[in-house]
Amino acid sequence: MASQEFAKLPGFRDFPPEDFARRAHIQGAWRRVACRYGFQEYDGPPLESLDLYVEKSGEEIVGQLYNFVDKGERAVALRPEMTPSLARILAERSRGLSKPIRWFSMPQLFRYERAQRGRLREHFQWNVDIVGEAGVAADVEVVAVAIDGLRELGLTADDFAARVSDRRLLTALLRVVGVEEEKLGVAYSVIDKIERLPAEKADALFTDEVGLSSGQISTLRETLSATSLDELARDFSDHQDVATELARLREYVSMLEAMGLGDFVQLDLRIVRGLAYYTGIVFELFDRKGELRAICGGGRYDRLLELVGGDPLPAVGFGMGDVVLGELLADRGLVPEYKRTLDFYIIPVTTAERPVALKLAHDLRERGHSVAYGLKEQGVGKQMKAASREGAKTVLVLGPDELAKGVVVVRDMSSGEQQETPIGDLA
Ligand code: HAM
Repeated sequence: MASQEFAKLPGFRDFPPEDFARRAHIQGAWRRVACRYGFQEYDGPPLESLDLYVEKSGEEIVGQLYNFVDKGERAVALRPEMTPSLARILAERSRGLSKPIRWFSMPQLFRYERAQRGRLREHFQWNVDIVGEAGVAADVEVVAVAIDGLRELGLTADDFAARVSDRRLLTALLRVVGVEEEKLGVAYSVIDKIERLPAEKADALFTDEVGLSSGQISTLRETLSATSLDELARDFSDHQDVATELARLREYVSMLEAMGLGDFVQLDLRIVRGLAYYTGIVFELFDRKGELRAICGGGRYDRLLELVGGDPLPAVGFGMGDVVLGELLADRGLVPEYKRTLDFYIIPVTTAERPVALKLAHDLRERGHSVAYGLKEQGVGKQMKAASREGAKTVLVLGPDELAKGVVVVRDMSSGEQQETPIGDLA
């Protein structure tokens, strides 16, 4: 058979050890922070029924699905996001669980997107969700986890911020501006894209699709540019429903301030979120310089569990991807240098010491140390070089003289100092 060259598929990554270490660094921080907040880890299958995503996730994600018909004639898709799986899992078992349910996961997800900076066709996404609590304290807890996940990796309020909005507040404001009920969905989707669209294009959509006059468009633009709750309270003081929605966001912000996280949060009504299922407070985390796409996105989705056949339970959560975050960490010099390390490297000088070396290696491994030795016979010089290549902190040299005395030469690789130690003392 002729040999063939196999290229990696576009948008997919290999993880050789240096890259795997970077991924493990991020995922380690995610797991530590989730556990600190009392969340339990879960997972689900990477392949699901296609139906789980159609309608529930929204057009954008459905257009990006990796889907096919399996050998049993089932329409299936690789998971593009975790939230529908979480809703499905809880639809089956939430009754037996005490509320609120606090679960987290770090699935690999697949979306057929055009690969570009920050966007690939697979990524790992930290999902943190609270199910069974409708109060704003759950929204606060979730965004605090996201913020602390980034702080754990060394990022500060100078590096990133959470841009927060509330779909209920936006709806109340759109009604005041004059958007008709059946046009609210279209209005959301134009606002969701407003930062990426040229102004004339967005205005044309507001006119043609949402049915707004130029006066209404300028009121809407002014409203969307509000950066404080006070500003909105002043401008919409005679609208009770706006005031009600503002009160909830005020409570949200004051709780985050009480936690000491106030500097990380800013109001931004342009944050709508592309996914169909959000119903309340929504947020996205962005780098302050505005160079990258969203690091994280989430919000409240109180009707999804019901939609997949479960009890109607309120829910709130987020997804944070490893791709944009990896770029931000690299830009800020926060990726730890990759170093191989090993506690011990054992060097038998001749074949005769091999059995003792094997026993010593195994005893040290039993005690939890990392230990390696050359797998084929080589001179001491070559074995020394291998030890330093593998990052050994200590080298143990076993020659015929040492063996006769029942000792090993223990060499500290950083200082170069060495001394004889009885084998029994080591193992
Ligand atoms: P999402 O906004 O679609 O939300 O994705 C969340 C994050 O995942 C994004 O901010 C981005 O960092 C990352 N991400 C998404 N797509 C890609 C891609 N193609 N390449 C690299 N990174 C990507 C959700 O998926 C919701 N299910 C999150 C959620 C959980 N909401 C409630 N609970």
